[in-house]
This record gives sequence, C-alpha cells and structure tokens, in this order.
Amino acid sequence: MHVVCPGSFDPVTSGHLDIFTRAAQNWEKVTVLVTFNPNKKGLFSAEERVDLIRKSIAALPNAPQNIEVDTFQGLLVNYLSEHNIKAMVKGLRSSLDYEYELPMAQMNHRLSGAETYFLLTSPEYGYVSSTLCKEVAKYGGDVQGLLPEPVVSAMQQKFAENQR
Ligand code: PNS
Repeated sequence: MHVVCPGSFDPVTSGHLDIFTRAAQNWEKVTVLVTFNPNKKGLFSAEERVDLIRKSIAALPNAPQNIEVDTFQGLLVNYLSEHNIKAMVKGLRSSLDYEYELPMAQMNHRLSGAETYFLLTSPEYGYVSSTLCKEVAKYGGDVQGLLPEPVVSAMQQKFAENQR
C-alpha cells in the first residue's frame, strides 16, 4: 500500500526520520508530504523543508528507496484522492499527541474515508519536537542527534541570517 506521512516538518527531526524509515519497512511506498498548519508560523519555506527532508533521508545509512517527498497547500484529503492514496501514517509520542491527532484522523476519515495509522515514537525521540529543537538551537543549545545533520547546519545558517 502507498501511504503518506504528512506534517509541517519545520524542520524535520530525527524522530520524524525514524517514523519515515519504519513506515518504509512496513508499507510499499511512502510519500513524505509537507503540508501547512495555518496556526503555526514557519521558520523554513516549503521548498527548504522539502530539500532538508530529501538530504536527511539520503544521508541515512541504507537509505530507503521507497520514500519520496512532496509538498501540498490545501486539504490533505484532496492530495490523497488526487493521488489515489487511501491512508496516512503518523508518529505518536504521548497522550498529548493522541488528543491532537484523534480529531484530525476522525475528520479526515469523515471527509474521504482515509485511514490514519499510528506508529509509536521510539523512546529516544519521545521528547523531540521541531518547536523545542528550534528554541534550543536559537539560544545556542546542543541539538546534535535530535536533528539530522543537514538540518543542524541549515538552522545555524538561518539563525545567523536572522540576526543580521
Ligand atoms: O506537523 P503538524 O503541524 O502536526 O501537522 C499537521 C498537519 C500539517 C498534518 C495538518 O495541519 C494538516 O493536515 N494540514 C493540511 C490542511 C488540512 O487538511 N487540514 C484539516 C486537517 S483534519
């Protein structure tokens, strides 16, 4: 089955990469889809996010060959029906994620019949979020290992540019 891993990915974290690679082991084809949450202000543009995801996947040892990356503005279910995809896969870190994901999964199911599968986040990434990593990195904290290497360098550059 072809599935989508949707998210803001601003930027992609090592926790996201773990979900993508595990999804790629369990489903035939995975499209990582950069979509937009209108309530979140972004640090990286859509193109930058896509580029960072591609670079981060390519840098993995034994990089999976069945993952592609795309971006879409609009309702996720419209992308799914345009591409004849019936399901999505997301990571769950905690009950807080569950509370956030449940209404979206139910709404997407009501809108189009799409199923949402959840993979439990690996324990080492249970506290990792794009938001927290951005905050820590902005103030000079160490995010090595929590973010893929291409993201660490891009973020350092972005914060240096923003300070000018
Ligand atoms: O990484 P996030 O912010 O948790 O991802 C949320 C996202 C982007 C998957 C969600 O906001 C989304 O699907 N946005 C696309 C617009 C849409 O379909 N909204 C209705 C969701 S039920």
